[in-house]
Amino acid sequence: MSFDPTLALHHAKNAGYSWTGAIFHREKVSSTQDLARKAASEGAPEGTVFVADEQTHGRGRQGRAWIAPHGSALLASVLLRPAIPALHLPPLSLVIGLAIYDALLSEIPGDSLRIKWPNDLLIKGRKVAGILIEASLRSDRPESVIAGFGINLSEAALPPEIEPHTTCLQRHGASPSREKLLGQILAAIETKVSHYVQEGLGPLLPSLRAADGTSGRRVRWQDQNATVLGIAEDGRLLLATPQGSVAASFGEVLFTENLLK
Ligand code: BTN
Repeated sequence: MSFDPTLALHHAKNAGYSWTGAIFHREKVSSTQDLARKAASEGAPEGTVFVADEQTHGRGRQGRAWIAPHGSALLASVLLRPAIPALHLPPLSLVIGLAIYDALLSEIPGDSLRIKWPNDLLIKGRKVAGILIEASLRSDRPESVIAGFGINLSEAALPPEIEPHTTCLQRHGASPSREKLLGQILAAIETKVSHYVQEGLGPLLPSLRAADGTSGRRVRWQDQNATVLGIAEDGRLLLATPQGSVAASFGEVLFTENLLK
């Protein structure tokens, strides 16, 4: 089914969205991140969104490719212009994660949905969505930030090589239209990002910690075994390692036990 940007904006406004950037839909692009970055450099306003049915060069974190067959996932990039110092950029992936978490709560029961620091959403321990934040800086402030996310909608999004670690909304009985899901996510992004810009992570921490799927888990981080202690006030991940406690601000944690939390 073709994507209708007007309908997506209608859903967003119904959920309280007020940013004025346009929503653009393309059938096939290299990466929605590239379109949003180009629009940003041409002066597009906050809330400009690019959605695609398919990407030929979809990007994940840490140089990985993000592959999703035509129409199997919600693929979108949102242009943000947060008035924060560059130092405050890293927690943005948690803020966007919380927005997607909130939007997905109307589709998926909260006890099976979790945020995995710093940028994934899990259902019953399997990845359903990933977030990629890319910023352009001018001295120590972001001129623009592109928040991209991919959400697996149908089984077609799960090729055999990634299937054991991933899942999709359809598998959990949820089949929202891309327009409705995007509308809810945009409204949640506007609310959460505005809170973060004005008040920092503090007001978001209780919900973030409640949604956190890493606390108490045994993990590998930077070639070390560790146990996750929780999310710190500044968004870093607190880990207990054999050498003592550390606060991780980058990288990924790999679960070393197969607990479906
Ligand atoms: C990750 O889990 O590593 C992040 C994945 C982010 C994928 C999305 S899909 C829409 C946007 N365009 C891209 O090229 N990447 C992001």
